[in-house]
Amino acid sequence: MSAAVAAARAACLRGELERHNHAYYVLDQPTIPDAEYDQLFRELQSLENAFPELLTADSPTQRVGAAPLKEFPPHVHGVPMLSLNNAFAPAEVEAFDQRVRDGLESIVAVDYAVEPKFDGLAISLTYENGLFVRGATRGDGATGEEVTPNLRTLRGIPLRLAGEGWPALIEVRGEVLMFKADFARLNDRQRERGDKEFANPRNAAAGSLRQLDSKITASRPLSFFAYGVGLGAEAVAVKTHGELMNKLAAWGFPVASERRVVQGSKGLLGYFAEIGEKRPGLPYDIDGVVYKVNRLDWQAMLGFVSRAPRFAIAHKFPAEEATTEVLGIDVQVGRTGAITPVARLKPVFVGGVTVTNATLHNEDEVRRKDVRVGDMVIVRRAGDVIPEVVAIVPEKRPTRDLFGGEPLHPPFTLPKSCPECGSTVTRGEDEAIARCTGGLYCPAQRKQALWHFAARRAMNIDGLGDKLVEQLVDAGLVHTPADLYGLTVDTLAGLERMGEKSAQNLVEAIERSQQTTLSRFIYGLGIRNVGEATARDLAKHFADLDALMAADAEALQAVPDVGPVVAMSIAAFFAEAHNRDVIAGLRQAGVAWPIAEPVAAVAQLLAGKTLVLTGTLPTLKRDEAKAMVEAAGGKVAGSVSKKTDYVVAGEEAGSKLEKALELGVAVIDEAGLIQLLNGGV
Ligand code: IVH
Repeated sequence: MSAAVAAARAACLRGELERHNHAYYVLDQPTIPDAEYDQLFRELQSLENAFPELLTADSPTQRVGAAPLKEFPPHVHGVPMLSLNNAFAPAEVEAFDQRVRDGLESIVAVDYAVEPKFDGLAISLTYENGLFVRGATRGDGATGEEVTPNLRTLRGIPLRLAGEGWPALIEVRGEVLMFKADFARLNDRQRERGDKEFANPRNAAAGSLRQLDSKITASRPLSFFAYGVGLGAEAVAVKTHGELMNKLAAWGFPVASERRVVQGSKGLLGYFAEIGEKRPGLPYDIDGVVYKVNRLDWQAMLGFVSRAPRFAIAHKFPAEEATTEVLGIDVQVGRTGAITPVARLKPVFVGGVTVTNATLHNEDEVRRKDVRVGDMVIVRRAGDVIPEVVAIVPEKRPTRDLFGGEPLHPPFTLPKSCPECGSTVTRGEDEAIARCTGGLYCPAQRKQALWHFAARRAMNIDGLGDKLVEQLVDAGLVHTPADLYGLTVDTLAGLERMGEKSAQNLVEAIERSQQTTLSRFIYGLGIRNVGEATARDLAKHFADLDALMAADAEALQAVPDVGPVVAMSIAAFFAEAHNRDVIAGLRQAGVAWPIAEPVAAVAQLLAGKTLVLTGTLPTLKRDEAKAMVEAAGGKVAGSVSKKTDYVVAGEEAGSKLEKALELGVAVIDEAGLIQLLNGGV
């Protein structure tokens, strides 16, 4: 290949690869499959190897990382990178708007450009004649670290500016961050390799960007969002921040699609609420929103006060992470016996509430994070999610300072017996969760089982909350749900904080719950893996509790959506004598439900008959048809023989249909089956 042809091909490949990059990393609209991209990439690489003079600084092949550095050179920012003042309460936002209006002597509502506050790290990107030449971290705002080779590896950062109208020298500012999904994948990878996991996407982004070996940065999924311009801002032909962002997008930078222009403090607070709602669904972490006066000439008029602009403010969400001390590690026993390690914490304000306990999920998680009593830990509480310990702060681990670096507390181990009832704690192979084997003998499980039984969606016993259940169990008044029906106003009225009237109401509520439905009753039993929907399906399918109790795992799997795991837990539940005793006790106490349509009557219709299903039926799924046949007392076999009574054939029925015809077995279709089930012949 001649040098001229190679040069033309290389230019063409560079253009094409950058277009795909932009589509993928900036517009989030991939244009070609990864494999095709890789092929073009390799073609360019081999051209550049064969003709090294073709290699340019903006070639996409330069995104793979360069030779490692010894240290990062300092970078003095041409325009200091300032920070923003923070607001937390609506009143602070209103005060900000008031200051802006006072400063501008404006009597009308001011337009603000509003955007998410990305939770990553600030960087500056310098372009000379449209070419990316230097990139740096914020550092102390005056001087940062030059991390150009690392930033080159970010596919979202254009190596050459697109479009037109950019000044010869321009410095674009924005945030480097890691998307939540990329962070989860990276941590999975770290874990598989036995490498250290990152506490959160922000730390992962910072750790990945500040690598002396840019090849490591290249292997990390970092993203970038632009939010402003430093040097060269005055040379951009725009009047507002909103227009500036549009220009940045046109030049190839990723910008937040959630950006908007709103009016006055009402507009600001409305935006804050809107983004607060969207926050859990955003692909990246944000820690608030940023409000900027939209008109650039007004920004200049307002200017700066000490180290922050007067024209902008960050409205922050309450911090979702905080650091505190582990005072102890206890275990909690759940309704189904699941043993969960819980960190007792020095109270800390996080996610808008004071947190004193945080889940450690399971034994492996505690070991993996190596959380010990006395450690300082990062605690996270996002939205309504249960607070969790994210990671320890290793530098703050207390040590026996004089005698080597031994940690003060030993690694956590799960107790061998249940702290509530002393029963053995077991953990199945391949299971993350250890369980107390005490069942309803365990007061912790009993309390939660009772509470679940009484819940609104189960037996709906109004007024029987967790506090009362606790008292009833601790006082030895109630051992099983059946005991509830023996409670009298007198016994109840003797309890703490229980007056005659509430005792009366509770007894009435318990009495009312005697008339229930089969699905509520099944759900209320608290069988592992049986939620409300499954309880309904079971009730519908079996119509009768005794039939359900007698069903083996195979028969249970005839119920739609009941797989082997659920079937096993149902069968195991009814196999326990004490569970059967509780059920008998409840029935004796008068708990009853209307007997549903007598499926049993239908059941006789196919008794002793064997059917084979083949092909695709027009409306019934295979397992639905099977369940219907079985509910009618029939058997569904896998192959056709002389003993087969009917073959139910659907679309694309194959060898089984042939066999049936050969043996002279009756062949029917779905309509025929339904007719059979309805008593027809
Ligand atoms: S504008 C004069 N816009 O927040 C400062 N900053 O305290 C102009 N940040 O370190 C900054 N998202 O890295 C701006 N949409 C956004 C931002 C944002 C995150 C960070 C920025 C800076 C800090 C300001």
